[in-house]
Amino acid sequence: MNTLLLHPEDAGAIEQAGAMLASGQVVGIPTETVYGLGANALDGNAVRQIFAAKGRPMDNPLIVHIADFDQIYPLVSEVPEAARRLADAYWPGPMTIILPKSDRIPVEVSAGLDTVGIRLPSHPVARAVIRAAGVPIAAPSANTSGRPSTTTAAHVMEDMSGKIAAVVDGGACAVGVESTVISLAGDKPRLLRPGGISLEQLEAVLGPVEVDRAVREQIGDDVRVSAPGMKYRHYAPHAPVTAVCGDPEKGAAYIASQLTGQSGVICFDEFADRFPGHIVRTIGRSDDQAAQAHAIFDALRAFDETDVTAIFAQCPDDSGIGLAVANRLKKAAGFHVIEV
Ligand code: TXA
Ligand code: MG
Repeated sequence: MNTLLLHPEDAGAIEQAGAMLASGQVVGIPTETVYGLGANALDGNAVRQIFAAKGRPMDNPLIVHIADFDQIYPLVSEVPEAARRLADAYWPGPMTIILPKSDRIPVEVSAGLDTVGIRLPSHPVARAVIRAAGVPIAAPSANTSGRPSTTTAAHVMEDMSGKIAAVVDGGACAVGVESTVISLAGDKPRLLRPGGISLEQLEAVLGPVEVDRAVREQIGDDVRVSAPGMKYRHYAPHAPVTAVCGDPEKGAAYIASQLTGQSGVICFDEFADRFPGHIVRTIGRSDDQAAQAHAIFDALRAFDETDVTAIFAQCPDDSGIGLAVANRLKKAAGFHVIEV
């Protein structure tokens, strides 16, 4: 398959992407978090092709993307008051709400669960493509399963060229980590995956939110987790990663003491000169969590172009979007975490 690269500013490009989706094809689309691998969420056959292109296990459900709030009604069995308040506060934006599903959701999307994740993205190209398709769009992150998520069209092409119909190039993703996944399907609100909307922001609207164990700890294959995707080794470059958490100054000293010939380092800007002779990728200043989120997947991916045999990464604390960045780094490290 020859994968088309579409440019949204070209006449007819959005309509072409929409028509491809409507006809059951898979298209890479930009969102404000990461690129998504989209297909018609109401067409089980179309959705199955997403799993094939990604090499994704079929027991991992997909998020359904809508362009306007009213599109939610046919997809879920109810819209609780709490969901409406969250949507008023943070939609369009980097947040996915898990709700009891309606019978319109194919089993391929829900992976057999009785719930569905809904997201209204803020990226204008994402919304334009969804509108052009005329159907809700199921989309996981547009990476090969297990690899870091993609935040540019070039990264999507790297993983998906020849496997999907087209990629819409919407530039670099602003947020850089995936959406926050919050479940409102149980008795109490529960954070299943930290992301672009922080835990503090959720709690400002909902009051106390439980945090799923899988956010901070490694969960074994034998354990049933609330978000199936959280159990897989994920976001991982080829070289093993060590996440170094705690005071950044101590962390930099620890990393410097561990480096051998072929090591790479992911660090905050102000420590960039501490590791002479090693390949260093900076992800923003230690106090600039938005910059870290924006840079983290790019940094992890970049090491696959090198021959480093080990990667040490400075990890932010759990405040704000730092919780999401730390979660992605710890998962990339297979929860090989050093606290300094
Ligand atoms: O920012 C994002 O959310 C991106 C963009 C493309 O929107 N999408 C994304 O999708 O990250 P994906 O499939 O890579 O991650 C979705 C996560 C997985 O961990 C999955 O297990 C979980 O959300 N999930 C999806 N539906 C669920 C459900 N019904 N119940 C529990 N977890 C669910
Ligand atoms: Mg993903």
